[in-house]
Amino acid sequence: MEKSEIIKKINILRKEKNAVILSHFYQDSDIQDIADFIGDSLALAQWAAKTTADIIVLCGVHFMGETAKILSPEKRVFIPNSKAGCSLSDSCPVDEFQKFIDKHPDYTVISYVNTSAAVKALSDIVVTSANAAQIVASLPRDEKIIFAPDKNLGDYVNKLTGREMLLWDGACHVHQQFSLERILELKKQYPDALLLTHPECPAYLREISDHVGSTSSMLKFSKTSDKKQFIVATEVGILHQMRKENPDKEFIPAPPKNSAYTCNECVFMRMNTLEKLYLCLKNETPEIFIDEETRLKAVKPIKKMLEISSKYGL
Ligand code: 13P
Ligand code: SF4
Repeated sequence: MEKSEIIKKINILRKEKNAVILSHFYQDSDIQDIADFIGDSLALAQWAAKTTADIIVLCGVHFMGETAKILSPEKRVFIPNSKAGCSLSDSCPVDEFQKFIDKHPDYTVISYVNTSAAVKALSDIVVTSANAAQIVASLPRDEKIIFAPDKNLGDYVNKLTGREMLLWDGACHVHQQFSLERILELKKQYPDALLLTHPECPAYLREISDHVGSTSSMLKFSKTSDKKQFIVATEVGILHQMRKENPDKEFIPAPPKNSAYTCNECVFMRMNTLEKLYLCLKNETPEIFIDEETRLKAVKPIKKMLEISSKYGL
């Protein structure tokens, strides 16, 4: 089917079914362009909590769909491709995490939103990359904290807040793979360019960056900066919004260690396509289901995050 035909059909279906299409910044540009709302994982959760639509189609990965369902159990939540997982979330299996928590009973458990509903259900507070530092800083200085699953984000927050949180040894395959050597070469080639880095990247990259932040924070920084060139160290999908919002600026994707590629793509995010989005709306599958016991436990740390975030205006 032609792209224009698919878009036409999606537009009819979304109206008929009172469906809202939410997209993460890492999605293909066609999906971002058709979405009712585009955002980072914090904004997607905030949107899912307040939408009046009957159906949410979350164009992102599985944990994002789960977060929407946890917050809006009365709505039907779909993701275009059930196989769209997350290597970071997978690096924290619930059984192993339970054992880790059991070994540290007097610790507060903070989990990154990139986790399964079952892991969230074991947590005291959920955070995203947009609010992790503020939320940790809001806790008493002597509070003992477990932070999971991203060791790079955890290390970043430890350094920002002066804490010594116990870090789970997980990482994202995309953000772990940027090549320092190739980025340094790019910096020489573009001496005026600023380097923007996601906090899921290792310290050696964050340390040479001009700005470290979540996808939305990188977008905001590129918009408000008076510089004209940016090297972007995160999943390449974000460049679509950056270019759209700043047509006079140049955005260069940071290269991965594998020299055959010029940018880093999240294979899971790429599993969603315009056609899969159409089929998902038409056939109302794949749907996200969460057992009520897990959901009730998982909703508390997510709501805590949303409360603290709104207190800080995040
Ligand atoms: P953001 O919270 O910045 O949207 O990042 C989500 C993510 O999956 C990063 O890899
Ligand atoms: Fe997960 Fe990494 Fe993909 Fe983000 S980029 S969804 S952390 S695998």
